[in-house]
Amino acid sequence: MLILGIESSCDESAAALFDDTRGLVAHAVHSQVAVHADYGGVVPELASRDHARKLTPLIERVRGEADDPPLTGIAYTRGPGLVGALLVGASIAVGLGESHGLPILGVHHMEGHLLSPLLEDGAPAFPYVALLVSGGHTLLVYVAGVGEYQLLGRSVDDAVGEAFDKTAKLLGLGYPGGPAVSEAAARGDPAAYDFPRPMTRKPGLDFSFSGLKTAVKLAAGDTPSGKARDDIAASFQAAVVETLTVKCRRALAASSATRLVVAGGVGANRHLRRSLGDCATADGFEVFYPRPAFCTDNAAMIAYAGYRRCREMRQGNGVIDALARWPLTDLAPPVYQSV
Ligand code: KG4
Ligand code: ZN
Repeated sequence: MLILGIESSCDESAAALFDDTRGLVAHAVHSQVAVHADYGGVVPELASRDHARKLTPLIERVRGEADDPPLTGIAYTRGPGLVGALLVGASIAVGLGESHGLPILGVHHMEGHLLSPLLEDGAPAFPYVALLVSGGHTLLVYVAGVGEYQLLGRSVDDAVGEAFDKTAKLLGLGYPGGPAVSEAAARGDPAAYDFPRPMTRKPGLDFSFSGLKTAVKLAAGDTPSGKARDDIAASFQAAVVETLTVKCRRALAASSATRLVVAGGVGANRHLRRSLGDCATADGFEVFYPRPAFCTDNAAMIAYAGYRRCREMRQGNGVIDALARWPLTDLAPPVYQSV
């Protein structure tokens, strides 16, 4: 069985092939960072156009890299995401499905992220708690199995990646903000500013990052530079990391889980990894990450989620289907477990 995965929900175009016996056979990603850099954020129309240019060559590349049997089915990201961007991937999936007589399946982007550590050697067993931290989402989810997701907590306002991106903008750092803030933070003093650790004193597992953003804005004034900028970056990062760490510990304790999965772009943050690693040793839980390339958006996770749900693949009826919003808790376990 060979599944083609297609991802186009935001600013990465990606294609991948997952095989039931050999695992991940090929994957390719094209990042649109250069397309959006001048605007300091993703411009939806430019994203759609770039997906339209790049997806087909990426699919041809992964098909060409592997000496493979014919495809069994196509999994594409159906949502949530930018609707125009999603429609490009969905159109290509429907077109390929129709022309090759292949079944297709629309995959939930967040399910892809939640299952992405299962692509690695030494993958976690179910159940686990997943911290999903990306540019668009901040979620804590109890994962009992494929499609068995219980939402434990979420951000009531900005996503944590968005907070990194906005902080980078306030500090006159580049786009995307996460790596730029983290680089400046490495030179700064994390204790220089006493930024809030939002919603950590009250019980509960929700997050809020808009107050922290305001505190950074007040400290930043007119685009600081040098030591002041690095100190704000370091203090901001320390506040975010401590907040995320407190909530992860709380979620693990509340659910009695002993495994934590961290996925999404912010999962690449080294300071966060160190903090969670220290807690794991102290509290006796294990932490799992996808490889760095699969922390950010990719099609390997979409192909894999499609594989786990391969019995749900259906011959298309020509309808191009995408959902800008799609609650994770709407998902159900696969009707027949594929593995
Ligand atoms: O998962 P992702 O690639 O895209 C979404 O689905 O949103 O996550 C991108 C987000 C951006 O906000 C970016 O600034 C952040 O992840 N990010 C980081 C780091 N690398 C990427 N944030 C903090 N530290 C990093 N090293
Ligand atoms: Zn994502």
